[in-house]
Amino acid sequence: MGQLLKWLAGMLILASLACLALASWTYARSEAYLRSFERPPPFQLPIPDDEVTRARGDHLVRTRGCRGCHGDDLNGQFMWGAASAPGLPQLARGSPADFEAALRHGIGADGRALYSMPSMGFLRLRDADVAAIIAYLRSEPVIDRELPRRSLPWAIRWDLARGRDMAMPAVMNRVPPLRLEGEDSPLSRGEYFAMTTCNECHGLTLQGDSAFGDEAAPSLAVVAGYDEKAFEQLLRTGKALGDRELPRMSRVARRRFATMTDAEIDDLYAFLRQWPARTTD
Ligand code: HEC
Ligand code: HEC
Repeated sequence: MGQLLKWLAGMLILASLACLALASWTYARSEAYLRSFERPPPFQLPIPDDEVTRARGDHLVRTRGCRGCHGDDLNGQFMWGAASAPGLPQLARGSPADFEAALRHGIGADGRALYSMPSMGFLRLRDADVAAIIAYLRSEPVIDRELPRRSLPWAIRWDLARGRDMAMPAVMNRVPPLRLEGEDSPLSRGEYFAMTTCNECHGLTLQGDSAFGDEAAPSLAVVAGYDEKAFEQLLRTGKALGDRELPRMSRVARRRFATMTDAEIDDLYAFLRQWPARTTD
């Protein structure tokens, strides 16, 4: 009996040591991975402080959906698992370089790669638009709010440690360049809108190839079935072709796209109508 107890205790100690070793390995490997991404060169543009720029920032924050995660008042909220979206008015009052590194590159202020922040949808935002977003957020009130500390769950660390999952900067390596960069035309403006907002859910190339999010958003080739009036109705009211209420898109449209300008809708429609043909050239 005594022998058996000793043997059991021995096994228990061995098992705990093995668990501890595995946990340390997982933590060390995932931390090294998160720290393996280079910080971008610091954002240099001065942040304007005028009404027109702030209004542009307001429009960008709405259409790019920051409130969906950072809260209706933008001051942060707890989301899922261990994802906690911080307060943006406070961050905007800090270093523009830190803010931009997170927004466009998925690198946190502490230099570690972000995991849940969908920076792949914002990589192509222009410098002036980044500055406008910061300018607007600086004019929004800071609300002191206790948020749970951010920490990655073990299951995610385990996958990151073994190369089975990616942090945001790795996802971003797959974001294609804008084809019409440098052009100023309805198509290039439509592409800019699509590739800095619709690509958050409809895939990095808009083909429904989303590397992010669990709900399937279709390839935007579906827009071929929409005439311009139906497309406008979807964006402004959330009602899809045939007056359908969609599980997710309808709410997204009402929250984010109802305030799109007529010109933005025209440009986006023009771009999406010819886009499927261009992907095969
Ligand atoms: C899908 C949810 C989601 C959306 C949409 C989103 N964020 Fe975030 N954001 C997060 C989460 C979660 C974090 C915390 C870091 C993490 O877990 O990846 C974060 C972190 C940040 C950070 C700070 C990073 C740091 O720690 O230094 C900034 C700045 C930021 N977001 C700006 C924005 C802006 C601006 C927008 C809109 C253009 C936006 N976010 C849209 C979820 C989101
Ligand atoms: C936050 C995620 C999200 C964003 C951003 C988003 N969509 Fe969607 N969209 C979806 C999902 C998910 C569906 C599939 C239907 C559903 O579950 O609501 C969808 C469906 C659609 C459909 C198919 C409608 C039909 O007839 O069935 C169209 C068209 C569409 N989206 C256009 C757009 C355009 C254009 C943009 C950018 C301006 C955009 N979406 C941005 C999530 C999104």
